[in-house]
Amino acid sequence: MSMHPDIEQVLFSEDEIAAIAKRMGAQITEDYRDKNPLIVATLRGAVVFFADLARAIECPLTMDFMRVYSYGAGTKSSGTVTIDTDLRTDIEGRHVIIVEDILDSGLTLSKLLDVLRERKPASLEIAAFLVKDIEGYEPPVHPRYVGGHIPDAFVVGYGLDYAERYRNLPYLGVLKPEVYS
Ligand code: PRP
Repeated sequence: MSMHPDIEQVLFSEDEIAAIAKRMGAQITEDYRDKNPLIVATLRGAVVFFADLARAIECPLTMDFMRVYSYGAGTKSSGTVTIDTDLRTDIEGRHVIIVEDILDSGLTLSKLLDVLRERKPASLEIAAFLVKDIEGYEPPVHPRYVGGHIPDAFVVGYGLDYAERYRNLPYLGVLKPEVYS
């Protein structure tokens, strides 16, 4: 596939992404073989990765979806997470894996974990396709499964958007600054 003209650099190609999903799926299969995990996609960005990861997991599982908005992101204030679309599944006693596309500040995930912990799952872990490494910043959550680390750049594709565009690019790329500045 040719590169989109708004993309400056490809960070993860389709082939690299496929290998990442396969590796993470194998790890989860190993860890959850007899646990019938519930894997949860956080709408919307994570759905592309979720679809690939789910098909790389070779043990029985169930799926559910959530959509949350977080407020107070980017600040140190104690923001809240508002659930727009909640799970249909009762997670008490279940082994839950939240699937995210990217951990940036980590505030969304941190608040989501607080909400879900109150529902008493047997276990609660995060599978993040990307973790953004921000110099001097220690995120509040640490995913058990990580696809890759990226520098502090504006990335799009493979589910991630800029102004709702580029989610359908099959690779992960850095957006050209002139597109958003
Ligand atoms: C993105 C992404 C994470 C969150 C990460 O979602 O999918 O949920 O931001 O940011 P954080 O680590 O700084 O909290 P977004 O709110 O853009 O919604 P979308 O998935 O619909 O694009």
